[in-house]
Amino acid sequence: MTEEEQAVLDWLGEYFRKQGSGKSLITVLLALQEKFGYLPGQGMREVARLMGVSAANVYGVATFYNRFRFNPPGRHEIKVCMGTACHIKRADKILDHWKRRLEIGAGEVTPDREYSLERVACVGCCTLAPVTVVGDEVIGNMSTSKIDGILLGHDLDRKQKVDGATRETEGA
Ligand code: FES
Repeated sequence: MTEEEQAVLDWLGEYFRKQGSGKSLITVLLALQEKFGYLPGQGMREVARLMGVSAANVYGVATFYNRFRFNPPGRHEIKVCMGTACHIKRADKILDHWKRRLEIGAGEVTPDREYSLERVACVGCCTLAPVTVVGDEVIGNMSTSKIDGILLGHDLDRKQKVDGATRETEGA
């Protein structure tokens, strides 16, 4: 069992001890997602066991609502708007470029969990179409070169942090 799976089981055990078993399935799943950022498979099976329902029941409820996610979010969450205004402004080209650069599909996470990529409906900034939300930042008039710039910026940040940590270690 991975450390994360153990943490999920421990957290659920504690949750049910404190909250009792009177909560609805949706409430428990929302709390689990709030805590871990997604619904881990192990967690859903444990919820089923603790609530005395079938795992199929839990999966059925979780997949019915589109607010649940089944992959861990990346450190940088990339949400590409595919609403009508963005669609007209070639959001598909933007999504393709993110996919190519990150080497993952929509709904997936990079193996290092640095990035997750999602298609989303209108984020309410249609005049800025095409739009991508990176973390909490809404970026309008998105282009392939902007994507390259964002990724380059992240790479430089990461490199700076590694260099800083190396200098600290050497100085210690
Ligand atoms: S359609 Fe993309 S922001 Fe509205």
